[in-house]
Amino acid sequence: MVDTMDPLLALLCLLPLFPGLAADTPSCSQSVNITGGTFTLSHGWAPGSVLTYSCPVGRYPSPTSRLCKSNGQWQTPGASRLTKASCRPVRCPAPVSFDNGVYTPRLGSHPVGGNLTFECEDGFTLRGSAVRQCRPNGMWDGETAVCDNGAGHCPNPGTSIGAVRTGSRFGLGDKVKYRCSSNLVLTGSAERECLGSGVWSGTEPVCRQPYSYDFPEDVAPALGASLSHMLAATNPNQQKKENLGRKIQIQRSGYLNLYLLLDASQSVEEKNFKEFKDSAGYMVDRVFSFEIDVSVAVITFASKPKVIMSILSDDSRDVTEVMSSLENASYKDHENGTGTNIYEALNSVYIMMNNQMERLGMHTAAWTEIRHAIILLTDGKSNMGGSPKRAVDNIKEILNINQKRNDYLDIYAIGVGKVDVDWKELNELGSKKDGERHAFILQDTKALLQVFEHMLDVSKLTDSICGVGNMSANASDQERTPWHVTIKPKSQETCRGALISDQWVLTAAHCFRNAEDLSLWRVFVGDPNSQWGKDFQIEKAVISSGFDVFAKKKQGILEFYGDDIALLKLAQKVKMSTHARPICLPCTEGANLALRRPPGSTCRDHESKLLDMLSVPAHFVALNGSKLNINLKMGMERDDCIKVVSQHTAMFPNLTSVREVVTDQFLCSGTGKDDNPCKGESGGAVFLERKYRFFQVGLVSWGLYSPCVSANKNFRQRAPPGRVPPPRDFHINLFRLQPWLRQHLQDVLKFLPL
Ligand SMILES: *[C@@H]1O[C@H](CO)[C@@H](O)[C@H](O)[C@H]1NC(C)=O
Ligand SMILES: *[C@@H]1O[C@H](CO)[C@@H](O)[C@H](O)[C@H]1NC(C)=O
Ligand SMILES: *[C@@H]1O[C@H](CO)[C@@H](O)[C@H](O)[C@H]1NC(C)=O
Ligand SMILES: *[C@@H]1O[C@H](CO)[C@@H](O)[C@H](O)[C@H]1NC(C)=O
Ligand SMILES: *[C@@H]1O[C@H](CO)[C@@H](O)[C@H](O)[C@H]1NC(C)=O
Ligand SMILES: *[C@@H]1O[C@H](CO)[C@@H](O)[C@H](O)[C@H]1NC(C)=O
Ligand SMILES: *[C@@H]1O[C@H](CO)[C@@H](O)[C@H](O)[C@H]1NC(C)=O
Ligand SMILES: *[C@@H]1O[C@H](CO)[C@@H](O)[C@H](O)[C@H]1NC(C)=O
Repeated sequence: MVDTMDPLLALLCLLPLFPGLAADTPSCSQSVNITGGTFTLSHGWAPGSVLTYSCPVGRYPSPTSRLCKSNGQWQTPGASRLTKASCRPVRCPAPVSFDNGVYTPRLGSHPVGGNLTFECEDGFTLRGSAVRQCRPNGMWDGETAVCDNGAGHCPNPGTSIGAVRTGSRFGLGDKVKYRCSSNLVLTGSAERECLGSGVWSGTEPVCRQPYSYDFPEDVAPALGASLSHMLAATNPNQQKKENLGRKIQIQRSGYLNLYLLLDASQSVEEKNFKEFKDSAGYMVDRVFSFEIDVSVAVITFASKPKVIMSILSDDSRDVTEVMSSLENASYKDHENGTGTNIYEALNSVYIMMNNQMERLGMHTAAWTEIRHAIILLTDGKSNMGGSPKRAVDNIKEILNINQKRNDYLDIYAIGVGKVDVDWKELNELGSKKDGERHAFILQDTKALLQVFEHMLDVSKLTDSICGVGNMSANASDQERTPWHVTIKPKSQETCRGALISDQWVLTAAHCFRNAEDLSLWRVFVGDPNSQWGKDFQIEKAVISSGFDVFAKKKQGILEFYGDDIALLKLAQKVKMSTHARPICLPCTEGANLALRRPPGSTCRDHESKLLDMLSVPAHFVALNGSKLNINLKMGMERDDCIKVVSQHTAMFPNLTSVREVVTDQFLCSGTGKDDNPCKGESGGAVFLERKYRFFQVGLVSWGLYSPCVSANKNFRQRAPPGRVPPPRDFHINLFRLQPWLRQHLQDVLKFLPL
């Protein structure tokens, strides 16, 4: 027996603690720094580890990654020897040709921020963007510029920047072909045909730098009305036809199957897999937030697929079950087969579909009315199992996808994170419908959520489901807060309010202090900046009889805002749209569904779910429509928040207790960096978001400081530091006015027990 190990033995015993660093497998060299950038290692310096470089925006790493081989040497894809890594400036490609016009400047490639200007010869009209700017992702902004004389059956399809086109006849049945110059990668259709309807088949080709990725704002128009729409608009002979169904339809009738496929192969790396999981979690949460009939399947895959949640399981309709199954999905599940078999992954979707079809019956409406959306989160580097396209074809066949049923299947292939994507593969996978693009690369989960928002078509959601706002960064203010309304006595607007059903508006009582003829008042619902908006007359106003601004004058409280609440019944029902929709009122059945609380929940449950912290982030809508931020202070923090009211001696001389002014009916905000509401914002909802839905917990009533010091609706002045009294805002707490709300809305909303 050895008491004292010799040094060599000690070394051998220690080594296995460092995985991969066994005595006979050397580690890779550490001199792999990148100038101006950073790198990460999947398994330290050990063989098998993947090194990934990253660079600041506007630059890209070259090479992008290295693999530590078993002999301790770095292998760099596409390079024979170890070259020094560097961050290179992103460049946008140059046009190869431009028919019937000229462009400037003529460079080999263009720096980020550089512009290209296009002009047409006489007799040709320019369609698309006359000036395009090179963006930090190596993509040009705007649309392909085309000089057209309108002579063809189809419009001149143009030649996107970096592409070479063959074929210059645009008659019925004519074909054009594209390839990309130098090392650019083609996404979109390499061949297009002029169809009878006067449009080109497939989708416009785009030549991308291999390192380029998408910004959410680029992807959004690709999902919405894109090229086909543009062509239709410039070709008077061609009317916009039926909806092309390029979005996931959110609707009450019918059924949606959503299949989420998460790539867990080695090239993806564990940290990206985590990003895929987070992204999938977002999408699940969001799709369930519409209270539609949806089943979600989750499949992870590498060499083999693993079904984490099957569409055949009842649990796939339950958001909690789907989320917890997703939680369980692990990168390690695929440790023994780390290839990328997209074919098998899609085939497992096909098998699920087949089983479901057998269960429901091939010719039943229950089967044929299901819409299917497949979202593949991947780096697209399929390296086994053969072409994934076969599986897509099988899926199309079983779903009987044809011209009429095009919108029953949508396939999106998306790379999220710093994944090194194979554009070519991705492009093959995504379904290509008229003027659509279904393959994207996004930088992070946040960008994915933005894009997912655009994938959803909610136009068929015409019932008065509450608290659904558009979460897209690019949505208009009104789309984000569709419940928000403006109240106008005669002409001048005074107060704001919130739709709480399709015919009722909740607002503040003090808006009606000097109200005379209510028949002259109007409530403006919808978007004030577009034709979507509409004025409504008021059929009935219910102003709280408890409201009396002078009730406490004798106690030295010159103005008192207790019971500052009112309800307006509009003369007609509001037609629901993405611009007009009620907010969820807590303690109602609608809010209970939105909060995903079990039936039998109480008003108290809602209060503890919504006002669940000492400082609850919430919002109100500013005069110009933007959503501003406040924090509602609860418990001890509320005491601190309200106590400064005593410093307003002009309004409250001789105050005995702050609680006389700020009764339990009020929520308090305005501390720290909070925004402060202005006068005209009174009556508007104080609301917060839970599970991608919006809940009104209060309404703007009064405050100690008004930041709107000029007529400019876009300008607010913050209170100077040290101002006495400091800014504070008080909002009617809807949980404290339940009896009054129930009394007047009992036939409008279904209330939960207190
Ligand atoms: C690589 O960079 C790190 C941090 O900047 C530095 O500490 C290290 O010495 C560098 N290594 C080499 C081989 O240049
Ligand atoms: C390109 O055009 C934009 C907007 O027209 C302008 O702001 C920018 O300075 C131009 N860039 C260059 C390099 O001229
Ligand atoms: C974003 O919204 C603006 C204004 O509503 C619109 O002009 C623009 O096309 C939108 N962009 C995208 C990417 O949807
Ligand atoms: C998640 O994993 C745990 C423990 O392995 C298991 O008990 C649970 O049933 C799994 N949940 C789902 C939804 O698969
Ligand atoms: C991988 O293989 C090892 C050895 O055969 C086995 O112990 C392990 O459970 C396997 N892992 C998975 C996820 O199947
Ligand atoms: C959000 O707004 C965008 C832009 O108007 C639209 O394309 C998208 O379908 C909307 N999504 C939802 C969920 O309302
Ligand atoms: C202040 O309060 C005292 C006692 O409550 C009362 O006697 C006095 O009249 C009050 N003064 C004013 C200005 O209200
Ligand atoms: C709307 O007003 C707020 C301040 O009240 C301002 O921060 C914001 O930029 C304005 N929005 C627009 C579009 O001008």
